[in-house]
Amino acid sequence: MCGIVGYIGEKDATPIVLNGLKKLEYRGYDSAGLAVLENGHIEVRRDAGKLERLAALVQESPLHGQVGIGHTRWATHGEPNAGNAHPHLGMTGDVVIVHNGIVENYLELKEELKEKGAVFTSETDTEVIVHLIERSLMTGKTLEEAIRCALLRLRGAHGIVVLSKDEPDKIIAARIGNAGGVVIGMGDGEMYIASDLPAILEHTRKMVFLESRQMAVVTRAGARISTLEGEPIPYEVQTISWDPVSAEKGEYRHFMRKEIHEQVRSLTDTIAGRVDFDHGRINLPKLNLTPALAQRIERIYIIACGTAAYAGMVGKVLIERIARVPVEVDIGSEFRYRDPIINENTAVLAISQSGETADTLAAMEEAREKGAVLWAIVNAIGSQAMRLADGFISMQVGPEIGVASTKAYTAPLVDLYMLAIHLAEQRGEINEWERKGLVSDLRLVPDLAGRCLDREGEVEIVAQALVEARSALYLGRGVNMPTAYEGALKLKEISYIHAEGYPAGEMKHGPIALIDGDIPVVVIAPQDPWYEKMFSQIEQAKARGGQVIAVATEGDKRISAAADHVLWVPETPWMLSPVTTVIPLQMLAYHIAALRGLDIDQPRNLAKSVTVE
Ligand code: F6R
Repeated sequence: MCGIVGYIGEKDATPIVLNGLKKLEYRGYDSAGLAVLENGHIEVRRDAGKLERLAALVQESPLHGQVGIGHTRWATHGEPNAGNAHPHLGMTGDVVIVHNGIVENYLELKEELKEKGAVFTSETDTEVIVHLIERSLMTGKTLEEAIRCALLRLRGAHGIVVLSKDEPDKIIAARIGNAGGVVIGMGDGEMYIASDLPAILEHTRKMVFLESRQMAVVTRAGARISTLEGEPIPYEVQTISWDPVSAEKGEYRHFMRKEIHEQVRSLTDTIAGRVDFDHGRINLPKLNLTPALAQRIERIYIIACGTAAYAGMVGKVLIERIARVPVEVDIGSEFRYRDPIINENTAVLAISQSGETADTLAAMEEAREKGAVLWAIVNAIGSQAMRLADGFISMQVGPEIGVASTKAYTAPLVDLYMLAIHLAEQRGEINEWERKGLVSDLRLVPDLAGRCLDREGEVEIVAQALVEARSALYLGRGVNMPTAYEGALKLKEISYIHAEGYPAGEMKHGPIALIDGDIPVVVIAPQDPWYEKMFSQIEQAKARGGQVIAVATEGDKRISAAADHVLWVPETPWMLSPVTTVIPLQMLAYHIAALRGLDIDQPRNLAKSVTVE
């Protein structure tokens, strides 16, 4: 999705903005541009395609100045070409804007502006904003007032950053709703603006996050924040501890592979400080869960999208089994329009890596309006989901750059396991002996993940056998049914091979018709309570000539005799087995895509944070 970077200081803004945009490349985009204040006027460079195109353009025709803004665009209105790329100048060339979000009423605004003489040069919705600002400036308003007037006319969710040649010592940024974040980085005599932390993390760790309907006037000396209506707001500067180096690829060819291998560390960090192994207790202070609240809860809705929703499906099995609370899992985009039955005894738990997914945020808002208790499991610190929630668990995995989520899938599995134990204790649903047993299993997790990773060479060999596949079926059951969904999603999103995840018991109701010698069938069959059922699935697939790839527990001779290929995982307590069974599937998808020579970190049509509906 779109990304924004801005700089005001004493240095040359161009390399800082370009470098910041580079850090946002992982979000996916189709065009890019930047604008710099150069000798009292605004210079713009923009082009379709990758950032190298923009960098080449800047090299051919350099632009220098100490104030600049830039943008990577993911097209919503108008095709991805240079004319539609941001920044967008107004008719006078005195004001320039970059924008994330969709102006829902742009057609009516465009008509109105055209009638007043505005000439549009792009097909974007964004251009109406700069014309609105310009029209207000013509009536004698200051830049700040003109932006307020323009923003108050927009419907939808927006992040905008504006620069004017007439007020050259400031950049103005604003946020309405959930079209991604706006973060202000505080430097010394210089300031940064971005839609996402990685863009500016190498320059400063002191950040201020804009809330919805807030505007920041950013000068070299600092920022002044107010509501859209002009009411000044005191703000808190947060210090971010993420190491900028951890946002780099290091020795790996792709972020995805790096992130797969980071799972030993991310799972260690997920557990660290939260588990009291001596007393068998879980400590989740930011969740704000009191015994009174725990006992009041009658139902939990887990809401999320994509991979995060599959983590939620594992959570359903765990919470129902351990804490005995009914759980429903809902996709954010469905939940928000379904008028779900919610009251103050319902807890709604959002799961989101980015914390900025529009559908998940809208579902959270729906839940808030209906009076639910709102929790979130989120990775991006300071993100909107984290701020909306009454209580949260932070994922502790650091920045996830690869578009295909990996470490931000396994961490919430462990978070949900811990939440289930914590909830069960507070509700009196679990005795001390059971609780200590479950808590003690957590210490095994990082090492078990590491043992899966050690088998990467074997996975690569299986990947070679599947590289030409045109379609694949993934089957799982019980706590590993979502593993089948997630394995299939990983394969399809980065290798472009059609793959379907299915609850294994449903095979006989239709999909079994697909099985022939050409379709690989990936069967997730570790030693868990569903093992026998899954084993018969292997036999059924083999009987129809299917090529079976089993994910199985080390030493399982029955499976090694029955399957064509086996992806081995170490013996894992069954409630934690989705953490280990998914790792070979992440590696399998990765190696198939790598063998096919595909753009693994930025698969076509995908974006890392989906801030539009
Ligand atoms: C797939 C993937 C997506 C995300 C989904 C939700 O690998 O990454 O399916 O899981 O877009 O994103 P977040 O977790 O940021 O809300």
